Amino acid sequence: MMKRAIALQAIILLLQLICFEVQSQSDGSTAPMEEKEKEALYSTIQGFVGKWWNVSGLYPDPCGWTPIQGVSCDLFDNGMWYVTTIIIGPIFDNSLKCSKQAEFSPYLFELRNLRSLSIIDCFSSQPVTIPFHSWNKLSSTLETMEFRSNKGLTGEIPPALGQLVNLKSLVLGENSLSGELPWELGNLVSLKRLTLSANQLSGQVPSSIGAKLAELLIMDISSNSLCGPLHSSLGGLTSLLKLDLSNNLLSGSLPPELWKLKNLTLLDLRNNNLTGGLDPSLAGMVSLEDMVLSKNPLGGSIKEFGWSSFKNLTHLDLSNMGLVGEIPDSITELKKLRFLALDNNQLTGFVTTKLAAMPSLTALYLNGNNFTGELGFPEEFYRRMGRRFASWKNPNLCYKIGAGNTTGQGPAGVDRCINEEEGAVYGLDLENNLGSEGTTQGSEYIGSFVFSAHSITRFLWLTFLEVVVIHFLLSLM
Ligand SMILES: *[C@@H]1O[C@H](CO)[C@@H](O)[C@H](O)[C@H]1NC(C)=O
Ligand SMILES: *[C@@H]1O[C@H](CO)[C@@H](O)[C@H](O)[C@H]1NC(C)=O
Ligand SMILES: *[C@@H]1O[C@H](CO)[C@@H](O)[C@H](O)[C@H]1NC(C)=O
Ligand SMILES: *[C@@H]1O[C@H](CO)[C@@H](O)[C@H](O)[C@H]1NC(C)=O
Ligand SMILES: *[C@@H]1O[C@H](CO)[C@@H](O)[C@H](O)[C@H]1NC(C)=O
Ligand SMILES: *[C@@H]1O[C@H](CO)[C@@H](O)[C@H](O)[C@H]1NC(C)=O
Repeated sequence: MMKRAIALQAIILLLQLICFEVQSQSDGSTAPMEEKEKEALYSTIQGFVGKWWNVSGLYPDPCGWTPIQGVSCDLFDNGMWYVTTIIIGPIFDNSLKCSKQAEFSPYLFELRNLRSLSIIDCFSSQPVTIPFHSWNKLSSTLETMEFRSNKGLTGEIPPALGQLVNLKSLVLGENSLSGELPWELGNLVSLKRLTLSANQLSGQVPSSIGAKLAELLIMDISSNSLCGPLHSSLGGLTSLLKLDLSNNLLSGSLPPELWKLKNLTLLDLRNNNLTGGLDPSLAGMVSLEDMVLSKNPLGGSIKEFGWSSFKNLTHLDLSNMGLVGEIPDSITELKKLRFLALDNNQLTGFVTTKLAAMPSLTALYLNGNNFTGELGFPEEFYRRMGRRFASWKNPNLCYKIGAGNTTGQGPAGVDRCINEEEGAVYGLDLENNLGSEGTTQGSEYIGSFVFSAHSITRFLWLTFLEVVVIHFLLSLM
């Protein structure tokens, strides 16, 4: 037993020695590169970090024993190493910092095996535009392009980016890009992710995107100034999982062809100028988990829509949409729904108590409508929801205290129903210390409002006491 253990240790030691030998050998020799490739790398990096950056001195073997942070290389069949990835920006502790005069060096396009290019938080002071030409030189290799959080990256998206036909991910978010989306983006037929959010892009979404990017999984052009109607070709993005066009100026009605997006899990169109109601065919988006359409003058009724097809819906935001009609029972049958916002519409009718029985519901906003009658939820429901329940600003709504329990508090901003004996009308409940005046705040604030109203009273009382005491003391002097 003892002998075997010693033998094993010896073998391990031997293996370690061999590994060490191999490692030190590879550390000693350089990773061969074509001189042209090496110069192109040095000049490209210098373009971003500044001319002062003396590369040849510090990084004689950039693919070998003097790696540059953010640069990776691969060994190719010809026995040479080529740069495949460049990441510029404060990603790692010792990342190279961009200079104030950062720019795109034309040598970038000589890195013929570049697969991934990321420039993050780099161009800041001096405005820089994305080069308009030469992208064809990277068309057979480049798969990922990410230019993000560059305040100084201005100008238009070059149509020539459409030549990068192997691109799988194009991320140009949080820059200062403007102008229209080039039609040529539709040529990026391998694209799986397109993120152009938080720029100043304008014009319409070109129909080429929907017509040709059949492999697209994520499309995010939120927070720009896109306008005009959405093209029916968007229905061609049949692989799409997430579509975010929120915070733009889109108008017109939702193209019924969206029903073809059967794999879509997120649809976020909030804060646009969309009209025309909910087309019944939209219920075809059966995989939806998050549906956010709030802040659009969409109009129409929610009653006739086929909510029951959204079996996986967890988040439904339909606030501020000019919706009319009653809450349909089909919404209350959505077993996974956690968040339901119907606030600030013109919804009418009774508030069905079936809402309280929804198994996953943790937030319900009904405020700012014209619901009528009694809110008949059990007190336990109000306690469970807390400030994630809102029903104020429904002038014809009142609440009934649950049978046999008068200790609990009712929903904020809703008056207690006055029963038959006390008077036939729904009147102001003076016992409810949250009169309708105090409920103009958002749902998030209702809890703290109760607290602060209480503490202000307390504060005023204490101040009053102080004044009395000071007066008393002064009178003694
Ligand atoms: C860069 O480094 C090389 C080698 O160390 C040296 O010969 C050259 O003078 C340096 N250049 C600058 C601009 O500092
Ligand atoms: C939708 O998702 C399923 C399951 O992930 C997949 O098999 C199918 O190919 C997808 N449909 C499209 C059109 O991409
Ligand atoms: C929204 O669309 C209407 C027409 O449907 C138009 O009159 C209005 O100016 C648009 N609003 C914005 C902010 O674009
Ligand atoms: C709903 O979610 C379940 C579990 O995540 C999944 O297996 C199923 O395919 C989804 N249904 C639809 C219609 O997307
Ligand atoms: C609210 O509904 C009542 C009747 O249910 C109606 O008389 C009233 O005009 C409606 N108010 C608004 C602002 O639509
Ligand atoms: C009445 O309310 C109190 C607290 O508000 C709660 O502890 C109690 O369980 C309730 N009783 C009934 C019958 O609902």
